[in-house]
Amino acid sequence: MALTLASLAVLSASASLFVAAAPSLLAERETTAANCTSSSFTIPSWFVNDFQTRGANTSFSVLNRATGSSFLLGCQAVGSSSDLKCSTSGSASDPSLQISLQVKDKSASIKVQQSWSCNDRNPNHPLAFTASGTTSIPLSCASGGGACKSSNPIDLVKGSLSSPVQVTPVYADGPAGHNKPGCVAGSQEPKWTLGTIIFLNETGDGSDAIQSQSIQLQVTNEATGYVAGCLMYFNDGEDTTPIKMTCGGGADFVRRNRYSIRTETVFYPRSWTFTINETWFCDDVDAAKPVSYTATGKTTLPLVCTTESGRTACQADAVPVSGKVDSKTELAPYSIEDPLPTADGCTISSIVSPSWTLSNFEVDKSSKASGGPSAIAFNMKLNTKVNLFDYPVFVTHSDVQLNSTDSWYPCVFGPNEAPLAPRNCTFQYRDKTNTLAINSDWTCIDLDADHPLVFNGIATTKLPELDCETTSTGLTQCRTQDGYGWVAEVSGVTWRTESVA
Ligand SMILES: *[C@@H]1O[C@H](CO)[C@@H](O)[C@H](O)[C@H]1NC(C)=O
Ligand SMILES: *[C@@H]1O[C@H](CO)[C@@H](O)[C@H](O)[C@H]1NC(C)=O
Ligand SMILES: *[C@@H]1O[C@H](CO)[C@@H](O)[C@H](O)[C@H]1NC(C)=O
Ligand SMILES: *[C@@H]1O[C@H](CO)[C@@H](O)[C@H](O)[C@H]1NC(C)=O
Ligand SMILES: *[C@@H]1O[C@H](CO)[C@@H](O)[C@H](O)[C@H]1NC(C)=O
Ligand SMILES: *[C@@H]1O[C@H](CO)[C@@H](O)[C@H](O)[C@H]1NC(C)=O
Repeated sequence: MALTLASLAVLSASASLFVAAAPSLLAERETTAANCTSSSFTIPSWFVNDFQTRGANTSFSVLNRATGSSFLLGCQAVGSSSDLKCSTSGSASDPSLQISLQVKDKSASIKVQQSWSCNDRNPNHPLAFTASGTTSIPLSCASGGGACKSSNPIDLVKGSLSSPVQVTPVYADGPAGHNKPGCVAGSQEPKWTLGTIIFLNETGDGSDAIQSQSIQLQVTNEATGYVAGCLMYFNDGEDTTPIKMTCGGGADFVRRNRYSIRTETVFYPRSWTFTINETWFCDDVDAAKPVSYTATGKTTLPLVCTTESGRTACQADAVPVSGKVDSKTELAPYSIEDPLPTADGCTISSIVSPSWTLSNFEVDKSSKASGGPSAIAFNMKLNTKVNLFDYPVFVTHSDVQLNSTDSWYPCVFGPNEAPLAPRNCTFQYRDKTNTLAINSDWTCIDLDADHPLVFNGIATTKLPELDCETTSTGLTQCRTQDGYGWVAEVSGVTWRTESVA
């Protein structure tokens, strides 16, 4: 039975259901969990469920979010210190799982370290991971002392990988303003401010100028600080249709957010009535208890108009709008900053299946029978599904001795190119066998921009058949079919974390 994160999320949403189901979950320790490899790189982390203390004893369960494996732990105080000694109870145990726990006042500080391996990508070569992380768990205690439990429905321990790479994944940003202090408090009685409202009525001159109307404004939610821009052109004519607008703000394209803010407004050009319907998100009080709000507000725009040769311009600024919450939804704990699963990026591709796509290889051989310098050029691009720079890098070297088959030539990149993949390389070309070997260093910053990873490996490839033609000056130009790309696997890949000064 493979546990999917989705089913676990459902289980953990209801604590009592999770406890009831736990024993059967514990019976299985899976490394084939769906997306084990990509989850290990992107969300190496644990959920701590049912954290409770009873006198000197503490118990909880730890769920590894990458593997889906769960462990029950029991901890006892050692002497009079606040450190507790923890060991697994129940049927599942893992010698690599290390828990450090301190309970002091109304807070528990927990450190989790664990090693595991995933075989969802290559069953014959499981990939081993080690990660650790800490968090602090706020406790609510029963009056009279003694029993305490976590104040959160569930606690999250975000981890850093130490193996196979050193990476502290960056989580998603979440929708704008979700953690702004006062987000939850300010959302109880929603307030917006409308800025720079401009309503234009171009009535035309009956011949050339076209009759058109437009409305534009900015809607600022006071709870989140999120600003949505609204703009709509319309042709009013005799019609009195309400003008519906979907308003937008700056989008976050890098790490895909699970949730996005939705702002819909309606403007009535005759009555100047204006309505807002917005959905936004808050987790400023507690990331374990995120909430989404959908609220509506209504006002009449206090427009002031001036008319000049067939054009009426009406304006207002800083118009407050009060509204009410129509619905409030509690979301899965920590879901706001959890990145959505995405296809493999630079780091995962480089470890799981490193390869280059090569194209447009060309060798220009000089006419000298003795073997004068030749020029070689080709394009190379790292094979990965999410590429920060989605174009190939142009590599050349103009002083290649074809008679010397053992020389490695430094790659020269196109003008103004300072690529990450490859960052630098050397290559070797064998004319007789039509083979190319590329020894490259490349850098990945997709998971953790603060700790760039530098990879190295050699790709050896047999080139496709070359078409040759000899120019009038005696130069023989041989090249692969224009735009044809082929894959060269990289072997012996090593990596290290680049030390950042
Ligand atoms: C603490 O755990 C020990 C060993 O499991 C047990 O004997 C003891 O009764 C427990 N104490 C409390 C207060 O639950
Ligand atoms: C625009 O101006 C024309 C001419 O003054 C007027 O008939 C029309 O009602 C105006 N439209 C709006 C939406 O105010
Ligand atoms: C607000 O918009 C949502 C989504 O379009 C819709 O389901 C809801 O009924 C709207 N609320 C009101 C009060 O119009
Ligand atoms: C696994 O990742 C893919 C994207 O790579 C995603 O579509 C799918 O929902 C993920 N499955 C689970 C169980 O998270
Ligand atoms: C290759 O040719 C160059 C230029 O003629 C010459 O200088 C060099 O010694 C040759 N190298 C070998 C290994 O033959
Ligand atoms: C890249 O450059 C560094 C520093 O100059 C050098 O140590 C390394 O060997 C080069 N790597 C390759 C593949 O040429």
